[in-house]
Amino acid sequence: MKFFIDTADTDEIRKAAAIGVLDGVTTNPSLIAKSGRKFKDVIVEICELVDGPVSAEVTAVETEAMLDEAREYASWADNVIIKLPLIPAGLRACNTLSEEGIGTNVTLCFSTNQALLAARAGATYVSPFIGRLDDLGHEGMDLIAEIVTAYENYPNIETEVLVASIRHPRHVTEAALLGADVSTVPPAVIDKMFKHPMTDIGLEKFLADWENVPGADD
Ligand code: E4P
Repeated sequence: MKFFIDTADTDEIRKAAAIGVLDGVTTNPSLIAKSGRKFKDVIVEICELVDGPVSAEVTAVETEAMLDEAREYASWADNVIIKLPLIPAGLRACNTLSEEGIGTNVTLCFSTNQALLAARAGATYVSPFIGRLDDLGHEGMDLIAEIVTAYENYPNIETEVLVASIRHPRHVTEAALLGADVSTVPPAVIDKMFKHPMTDIGLEKFLADWENVPGADD
């Protein structure tokens, strides 16, 4: 499974990239607003920090205006991909960008039918939001299972399933067990993925025992 980080906080991105576990970055208008910085400045900096795809989301809601924004963002760096909402205008823009060779991430996907339409529109990635479905009392992971199964029935589909709105480490595990292509993970959840009390206890014991090895500190 590939790991993207879901944030516009460049310090967090730098930290994860330095560990070498990062395949890409997703942002959205809310995350950009939270950064308190200009959109272009943030995206350009992120693209310098990470080699993989960096999602920059359009805010227009009409196809032509989306395409204007998309082409502008795509000119900022080679690894920018365009995040488009899963509405008819967004899928029309997706079709055009796909023909132009510009990568896309179709976002705000909440059903398998929407994911099938995104694939048909040539999306590079589709982003089902599982945490927001969980919030409504649904089982968000069921959507991932359905999309993965539906896509597997059509080997010509190249769209990758990018699991979004991840809230805890178990979401990542379950997405991987279902065969999703990518998880986009908030920084706090990445931190938790590293953690296991037995790792800390084990390391502490190894280091304590090492002190008793003759000549260990020579
Ligand atoms: C995905 O690309 C979105 O940025 C993100 O995962 C949304 O997550 P949220 O539901 O926690 O806002």
